[in-house]
Amino acid sequence: MGYYVTTPIYYVNGAPHMGHAYSTVAADVLARHMRQRGEDVFFLTGTDEHGEPVANAAEKEGITPRELGDRNAPRFRELAATLGVTNDFFIRTTDPEHIAAVQEVLQRVYDAGHVEFGSYEGPYCPRCADFKTETEILEGNRCPIHLIELVQQKEDNYFFKLSTFQERLEQLYEDNPEWVLPKIRFNEALSFIRSGLRDVSLSRRNIKWGVPVPWDQDHVFYVWFDALLNYRTALTYAREGEDLTEEFWPPSVQILAKDILKFHAVYWPALLMAAGLEVPARLYIHGYLLMDEHKMSKSLGNTMDPFRIAELYGADALRFYLLREVAFGSDGSVSPEGFEARYSTELANDYGNLASRSLAMVARYREGVLPDVDPPAAVAEQFDGLLEAVSARIDSVDLSGALEDIWLRVRWLNGFVQSQEPWKLAKDPERAADLDAILRGLVEGLRVVSLLLHAFMPATTDTLLTAIGEDRRELAAAVFGASPGGTVAALEPLFPRVEAEDAG
Ligand code: ME8
Ligand code: MG
Repeated sequence: MGYYVTTPIYYVNGAPHMGHAYSTVAADVLARHMRQRGEDVFFLTGTDEHGEPVANAAEKEGITPRELGDRNAPRFRELAATLGVTNDFFIRTTDPEHIAAVQEVLQRVYDAGHVEFGSYEGPYCPRCADFKTETEILEGNRCPIHLIELVQQKEDNYFFKLSTFQERLEQLYEDNPEWVLPKIRFNEALSFIRSGLRDVSLSRRNIKWGVPVPWDQDHVFYVWFDALLNYRTALTYAREGEDLTEEFWPPSVQILAKDILKFHAVYWPALLMAAGLEVPARLYIHGYLLMDEHKMSKSLGNTMDPFRIAELYGADALRFYLLREVAFGSDGSVSPEGFEARYSTELANDYGNLASRSLAMVARYREGVLPDVDPPAAVAEQFDGLLEAVSARIDSVDLSGALEDIWLRVRWLNGFVQSQEPWKLAKDPERAADLDAILRGLVEGLRVVSLLLHAFMPATTDTLLTAIGEDRRELAAAVFGASPGGTVAALEPLFPRVEAEDAG
């Protein structure tokens, strides 16, 4: 069985922003970490191009929805590439293979008797493309996500008989207490289910931009059913001539934010049950990034543009910041000012300086050759069980927790250098053996943290690991004492100062 991780597919009605970067980077950390563990990984991201949100946006711009998709989908692709993201495929729901596969699955759902023609009237958000239930409506008849006023809408459509899955869904939640994480989202979804499910519209008649319903050409599928199925359809055509469903279905972890919880935690498993397919092993619902635009920075002004930040500071710095600043699973503010602060204190100082000065000391005091001695026991102790702890955090999708575990060691190593003052020992020939052990311990500590950090900051850790002669990237090597030794090369600053003028 492979490890299959997904992000939401993003609407092409606008340009990619930091929120999209966040989910995609999070999924990439999982994918990279699992590859380092030797798993066979498939990582999917892409764009959602049908339905009302896209059709309305295109109309406003006076272009066709397809033109809007063709303009914006490449920008999402580029965002992933810019951030060093290693997705194995990029799906667009306008791919003809996806369209055909959606029709095939939903025809099967129809044939099995899970669809009926009906009528519904209620408050509707065109940005969500979703009817709202009473508990979801904000004061003033507004959408809780987009804050716009809801419109009363009536439709005669095909309905997916979601209500008939009530018990099976409750059972799914009962049997799999961690299938939705964090727990607060599990409880939220379960209480939505328990409050009583009503059938949900599966098609639209008044909209042309969508996947045609095979049994009634006057209808297209409701965008959410088309969109959710991407996670399945991609596996059928991502590799020409191969069907990856055997190895990768069901998804191991699906990453998303709470805005689309109901679709993923309620509709999605029911749809899969109706189609006779296995449900995902886990959904992980992260929080919202709140962009604090009052907190300006000299180089970035007040915008959190992921392309801009990556260009000025490097993708690794942004990846780190996103998973460091906000506890994964909770909401949290991000700002240009906050970014710069972490860049200089944690990346440039804690990690970057530790690396440069440690390697510089090996160069200066030992001519670049790593002393072939045992590192101090006090250092080794710090790394006891760290690999297992980090792996366990990643298994429960606690990305910021994993990063914190690692960072505690980075900090500890800094404290160790301060307290041992190797530059003083270097002046005392009688302390040569102590200096040997300390240098060895520092470089070994850096090696282990860098292997563990590799999934978070692939490029900078590559630079450091290469400088200390570590070619392996697999996590089996992230054990203290497994160093190959040898010589170490000099290191340019990993996180150089960025001057305001560079921002131009
Ligand atoms: O909902 N903070 O697309 P979308 C954190 N096409 N994450 C954020 C965020 C923020 N401020 N803003 C966006 C759709 N996201 C559908 C999904 S899936 C079958 C179809 C991320 O472009 C987060 O993952 O509105 C959120 O769930 C997603 O982008 C919504 O992207
Ligand atoms: Mg949205």
